[in-house]
Amino acid sequence: MKKLTGEVYYPSEKTLDNARVKNWDELNKFATENNTEFWEKEANELEWFSKWDKVLDDSNKPFYKWFTGAKTNIAYNCLDRHLHTFRKNKVALYWEGEKGDCRVFSYFALHREVSKFANVLKSLGVNKGDRVTFYMGRVPELPIGMLACARIGAVHSVVYGGFSVESLHERLEDSHSKVLVVSDGAFQRGKIVPLKAIADEALQRAASVESVLVIKRTGEAVNMEEGRDFWYQDLVNLPIINAKCPVEEVDSEDPLFLLYTSGTTGKPKAILHTQGGYMVGTYSTFKYVFDVNDEDRYWCAADPGWVTGHSYIVYGPLLNGATSFMYEGAPNYPFPNRWWQMIEKYGITILYTAPTAIRGLMRFGDAWPNRHDLSSLRLLGSVGEPINPEAWKWYHRVIGKNNCPIMDTWWQTETGAFIIAPMPSVPLKPGSGTRPFPGIIMDIVDEEGTPVKANEEGYLVIKNPWPSMMRTIYNDPDQYIQKYWSKYPGMYLTGDSARRDEDGYYWIIGRTDDVLKVSGYRLGTAEIESALVSHHSVAEAAAIGLPHEIKGNAIHTFVILKAGVEKSEELANELKEHVAHEVGKIAKPEDVKFVDILPKTRSGKIMRRVLKARALGQDPGNLSTLEE
Ligand code: PRX
Repeated sequence: MKKLTGEVYYPSEKTLDNARVKNWDELNKFATENNTEFWEKEANELEWFSKWDKVLDDSNKPFYKWFTGAKTNIAYNCLDRHLHTFRKNKVALYWEGEKGDCRVFSYFALHREVSKFANVLKSLGVNKGDRVTFYMGRVPELPIGMLACARIGAVHSVVYGGFSVESLHERLEDSHSKVLVVSDGAFQRGKIVPLKAIADEALQRAASVESVLVIKRTGEAVNMEEGRDFWYQDLVNLPIINAKCPVEEVDSEDPLFLLYTSGTTGKPKAILHTQGGYMVGTYSTFKYVFDVNDEDRYWCAADPGWVTGHSYIVYGPLLNGATSFMYEGAPNYPFPNRWWQMIEKYGITILYTAPTAIRGLMRFGDAWPNRHDLSSLRLLGSVGEPINPEAWKWYHRVIGKNNCPIMDTWWQTETGAFIIAPMPSVPLKPGSGTRPFPGIIMDIVDEEGTPVKANEEGYLVIKNPWPSMMRTIYNDPDQYIQKYWSKYPGMYLTGDSARRDEDGYYWIIGRTDDVLKVSGYRLGTAEIESALVSHHSVAEAAAIGLPHEIKGNAIHTFVILKAGVEKSEELANELKEHVAHEVGKIAKPEDVKFVDILPKTRSGKIMRRVLKARALGQDPGNLSTLEE
C-alpha cells in the first residue's frame, strides 16, 4: 500500500480481507473513465419495470436527468424486491423507544405496514404527485409513512420534530401539502414535546392542508378538529384498509421528496429529489462505503427528519436489504451509557453518527462505554460537520477499540448521497473524509475558478453530475441555477471551503456562506435574524456562529432594540425563547447582546464577518466597504 503523508491509519489485514472493494484505485479509475457505465451497472442491480433510454440526459444543463424513460419505484425496491428472497423473514428494522419499549419489523412485516399506511393516505385522497408533510419524533411510523408516499408516487416532506411553529408553517405553505402526518407528541429526555399542539398553531395559516393524520405515541390529550384530524390507529384498523396496495410505476425522474434546508436567505429552500437517480445513489454509496452484508446490524443515529435519515436510515439500508436499528431518544438520557447499552444489546456492527454526539459523549469519560461489550462493532461513521482529530481518535480508540475504520462522509442535502467518503480498505487520516466517491470529480478553486495548489484553501466544487444530485429547488428553478451553478459555470458550488493535501485527501474547513452548522444541524443566520426582528421590541438583529467545544458552532446574536425599549436580562432571555418558539430549540441563541449599531456595508448589508472577528479578538480584514 502506498505510503501517505501525515498521520495515517492503514486498514488491518482482517479489514482488507473482508472488504468488498480491495482496490479502490481500480474502481475509481473505471468509474471515472466510464462514468455512465459505472452508474448503469449499479442501476442494473436494482429492479426497474422498464429500462431507460439514456443513463444521463444533459441536454438541459444544469437540469440533469438520470435514467430517463425508465419506470421504477424506490419503495418497491426497498421492500417488495426482497420478498422473493430469504430476506422476507430477515429483520428490516429494530426500534427502541426512550423508555425501553421495543418493536421489530421483518421485511415482510414492514411491507405490510407500508402498504396499509399507503391505503390510509389514499383514503384521505392522496394521489400521485401530492405532497404530504411529516412532523414527528423518531418512531417507526415515520419511515413507514415516507415509504408509503413513495409507493403511491406521493411526495414526502419531512419537517424535523425539533423545529417549531413558524418553520413548520412555512414548509406546509411552500409545499402546498394536502396532508400533515403528526405524532401527538414526542418523548424527549423524559418530557413530552407537544408536536400536535405546535402543529395546530402552524395549521391555522396553512390553507392547503385538508387532513391531519395523528399518530398516537405519548397518549397525552390533544385537540382533534372534527372532519380534519384523524387518529392513524383508528383508520388503519378499519376493515376497508388492507395490506394490498399496488405499486405506482413511476418515472425515474418523478419527484420522491422535498427536504427544506437553510441557505443564505431567510426562507429555507425545498431541495427536490427524484425516485430513480436518488435510488441508485443511495443504494450504491451505502453498499460500498458501509460495505454492508447480511450479518450486519447497522445503526444510523441521525433523525429521519434530516437528509442523513432519509438516505441512510430509510432508503440506502432497505435498498441493500440490511438490518437497521433506530432509537427514539437522546444519547445521554437517562445516563451517558444509553447508546453503549444498546450497541451491546442489539449487537450493532456499524454505528453512524455526528461529531457533535461523539464530542458530547466523550465529555462523560471512558468509564461509561468501557462498562459495555462493544466488540460487535466493526465499522464507524461520521457525518454533518468536520470531525476534530481529538474526537476522531477517541471514537476510534474507546468505541472502536482500534479495530473499526471510521467512514467520515462528506455530503449535503443537495447531493442526496455521499460525495467524499472512504471505504473500509482505504487508509484514513483523522479529520479527512479522504477522496471523492468513485467517479465523482471534485476540485478546489480560487475566486476566479482556477484550481488552487495542494494544501491551499479554496471553494469546494463538483465538476460532473451524479445520479442522486438534487434536481431543482421546488418552486424556484432560477435560484437553483443562481445558488449552485452560476459562480463557476459548469461546476456545482458546494458552499464549503476546503483544502486538498499532497495525497489527494480532502479536508473540509467550513461554510463560505451565512449557513451555520450547530450540533450538526444546518441553520441560516438569516432565519435566526428574522425570528428576532419578528419580536415587537427588536428593530434590527444579526446572528453569527462562534466556535463551541461540543456543538461545533454556537449562535451569538446582536440586537438593536426599538426606541424606548429598555435593555434587560429578562428581555435577552425572552428573545432567546422567542427564537426557540419561532424556529425551534436548535436555533436558540447562546447569547443576546444589545448594541446601538451594527457594522454594515454602504448598501446596508450586515457585515457578520466583522462581528465575528471582533468577538474572537481577530483582525476583521478589509473594511473598505464598511459604512462608517
Ligand atoms: O458544511 C458541510 C457539512 O454539512 C453541510 C451540509 O449540511 P446538510 O445539508 O445539513 O447535510 C448534512 C448531512 C449530510 C456541508 O456543506 N458537512 C457534512 N458532512 C460533513 C460536513 N463537513 C465536514 N465533514 C463532513 N463529513
